[in-house]
Amino acid sequence: MKALVIGGGGREHALAWKLKKSPSVEHVWCAPGNDGIAQDAECLHVRPGDTAGILALAQKIRPDIAVIGPEDPLVLGLSDDLSANGFRVVGPSRAAARLEGSKVFAKQFMERNGIPTGRIYGIYDDLTKAEKALETIPLPVVVKADGPCAGKGVLVTGSLLEAQHFVRRLMAQQEFGAAGGTVLFEEALEGKELSFIVLSDGKDLMPMVPARDHKRVFDGDQGPNTGGMGAYSAHGMVSAALETEILEKVVRPTLGGIAQEGSPFVGFLYSGLMLTQKGPKVLEYNCRMGDPECQAIVARMDFDFGEALQAAAEGRIKDFPARWSPAASVCVVLTSGGYPGPYQTGKRISGLREAEKDGDVVVFHSATRTADGGFVTAGGRVLGVTAAGGDLRSAAARAYAAAGRIHFDGMHYRKDIA
Ligand code: AMP
Ligand code: GLY
Repeated sequence: MKALVIGGGGREHALAWKLKKSPSVEHVWCAPGNDGIAQDAECLHVRPGDTAGILALAQKIRPDIAVIGPEDPLVLGLSDDLSANGFRVVGPSRAAARLEGSKVFAKQFMERNGIPTGRIYGIYDDLTKAEKALETIPLPVVVKADGPCAGKGVLVTGSLLEAQHFVRRLMAQQEFGAAGGTVLFEEALEGKELSFIVLSDGKDLMPMVPARDHKRVFDGDQGPNTGGMGAYSAHGMVSAALETEILEKVVRPTLGGIAQEGSPFVGFLYSGLMLTQKGPKVLEYNCRMGDPECQAIVARMDFDFGEALQAAAEGRIKDFPARWSPAASVCVVLTSGGYPGPYQTGKRISGLREAEKDGDVVVFHSATRTADGGFVTAGGRVLGVTAAGGDLRSAAARAYAAAGRIHFDGMHYRKDIA
């Protein structure tokens, strides 16, 4: 097979890297990819968001399978465009991607389908009504912008003032444009978070191993939210009983409900869960792999990933023989100083080769480019140092030993992943 990965971050590097290792795959393209991904895939230039350009590209190279990494092209309907032109695609239709694209849609969908989630306090598209409603809502409260805001559209707060301020930023100052035109207030849930991702063919599914992200920028979950500072996955982090409960109460009703509503979900369904005392509840859905969860998950895959994607695209994932080993993996994200606020780029990166001397370590590139025969930084999240091991402790030790060999000006990473 020839495989096309769409996207250009660390998640897509992990997807391309695993496809390259798949016996069933003879060639991997990545569009647009990045200079780091170019070590493992042929990168093809295309403007992110240019779905017509990606379709034209696919028509030229004719991949046997395409997998779409990020949410934006999915929400824009790239999967529909590719399928309509005869391509095998892993990535949901625009209609199914509303599970991520609209938090109001997702919340009402969960209510209709009896999927456990935090209670809705109200949905408003009018600032005055929203502000009034806040005064009567129990605290703490979660305020969410309806549309995608690159991870910045959610506030959990015990302060009425803070909630009001955030609502004004969304609705009056329109900091996120139309995405913040409608807001949702919901119950704040307590517990441990878990990213539970499955690969679905529209009817059946294959669970990925569970993973846990670390969203805040500093150790001990301090500081602002980011795209994700690191992730781990380990055998036993979810008991068999809990996994069954998640599948039966959340995942299957979600896939069944969305299919029944006319939009079968083909691709990676990510349920962001809170493990509460009353069982798992959905915080959000994503219509794709997580980043950096994907990096930790592929590190534990012991099967032909190309075949798995093909099985999903062809509606026969049910009997796919997945095998997972080794028992644990850890991905530590190295960021530019200042991220998620303003940061500088173009900083020379050293130590990449030394970091990968340990055969169980792979460094995925989120945002790098080549300059003068080496790599320099090109974004906020720069690299995902990923290690596999027989247990979490050894995987983490390897990831941190490797991260310690890498250097660039201003480099920051959390020391407490896993
Ligand atoms: P989301 O974009 O919906 O995943 O929200 C981002 C983060 O906000 C989640 O990973 C949680 O940490 C937090 N969050 C979202 N919804 C809730 C909720 N109902 N209760 C508590 N925390 C939440
Ligand atoms: N790491 C969280 C996400 O990909 O949404």
